[in-house]
Amino acid sequence: MQRALRIALGLGMSLTMATAADNRPATKQAERGRELFLKSAKGTACGTCHAIAGVGNAVGPDLGRMASLVAPRGLVMAIQMTVTAYVQEVKGPDGTFPGIQKQKQGDEIEIWDLGQAPPALRTLKSRQVISMSANRSWKHPPASAGYTSQELADIIGFLKWAAVGGRKEVSVAEVEGLQ
Ligand code: HEC
Repeated sequence: MQRALRIALGLGMSLTMATAADNRPATKQAERGRELFLKSAKGTACGTCHAIAGVGNAVGPDLGRMASLVAPRGLVMAIQMTVTAYVQEVKGPDGTFPGIQKQKQGDEIEIWDLGQAPPALRTLKSRQVISMSANRSWKHPPASAGYTSQELADIIGFLKWAAVGGRKEVSVAEVEGLQ
């Protein structure tokens, strides 16, 4: 009980810090990470599909909670995932596309079409969705973008700063799982 309370308080605190992060000066690493997050020479930038600290588009899942709880190596594994948890193959009125549901309201369902670049929001009637099944075609772009360990460290440094105001340098060794 005491423990649960402490965890709850801890989470509450990280949420307060998350808002504080917006006003805190970013570290050099977080600044480099933000640049990479928003513009990338290595394929589609993270910010095309993720929003954090007031930048980017909320197409994919919110990264704040994961960035606040998970160590750098775990974040790298999530970034380089090959199996997806949310993306599904959606069979709609005019073919199949990889999609992630944004919301469902009454008879309408909003789905981001990840087959488009940038992803396009489609609104379908429930009956127009013929099926939704396990994704086999769509791959998370950064899994094969060839980011260096230093670039990943910088991106994660930015995520941690954005999520909880973290100012600790994320090292290449941590990213590579050597530390
Ligand atoms: C084309 C859109 C797109 C781009 C670009 C993209 N992501 Fe994602 N990302 C997604 C989607 C969609 C998911 C959910 C995948 C699934 O179904 O599990 C996701 C999942 C994640 C997750 C796991 C989140 C969770 O809660 O499971 C992390 C971490 C992540 N992305 C970070 C990044 C970072 C960092 C970059 C840039 C280096 C990036 N993503 C680029 C769309 C994208």
